[in-house]
Amino acid sequence: MERIATYTGNLLNHVETLYRPGERHLAVAMAEALGCAISDTGFSGDGEESFLAVHPNPADRDMRNNAFFLSPMRPEQQAVEARLLKLANEDADFAATLADYRSIARSKPFGVPHFAIRYPSGDAVAEAAERLQAALGTTLGDRLHIRVFGPGGSGAKGASTVQGFIHQDVIVSGSFLYGQLIELQSQPTA
Ligand SMILES: [Fe+2]
Repeated sequence: MERIATYTGNLLNHVETLYRPGERHLAVAMAEALGCAISDTGFSGDGEESFLAVHPNPADRDMRNNAFFLSPMRPEQQAVEARLLKLANEDADFAATLADYRSIARSKPFGVPHFAIRYPSGDAVAEAAERLQAALGTTLGDRLHIRVFGPGGSGAKGASTVQGFIHQDVIVSGSFLYGQLIELQSQPTA
């Protein structure tokens, strides 16, 4: 089988993502529902929990390429997020602004920061979205929003592309208050 490590050109090799302290199990469940495999890197940085490597291709568990990492949000970010949440609780205008942002992330995700996983078909995208809903829909409630575009539907890139957009605040590369979009994209692979 062709391995990502044998590809010698430059490539985008990883995304660093976080989970909230105490929610490692939810992050793992989400990644697995999306069809990914998990490896423990054994590296803990200056925290206690090791970084996990998430492999979109379970058949090629290269921990340095074609992966995203999962580790707990650090205290410095927790402090920022707690301060912002306090402001939102005290300031109705700010709370409304945040709600607007989350709304646009869920309704018009194009142009909202995200990273994407490639799947071999539109059916595979739909199946991943269904697995995620089944695994975590009840547990996460309004923290999880799933929308699938296409093929050829409004907002889809083209007739052959299916795009699923997952907005959630379990796996985040940025602010937990904003939430994170993860795109599931089918692509002709022939
Ligand atoms: Fe995208």
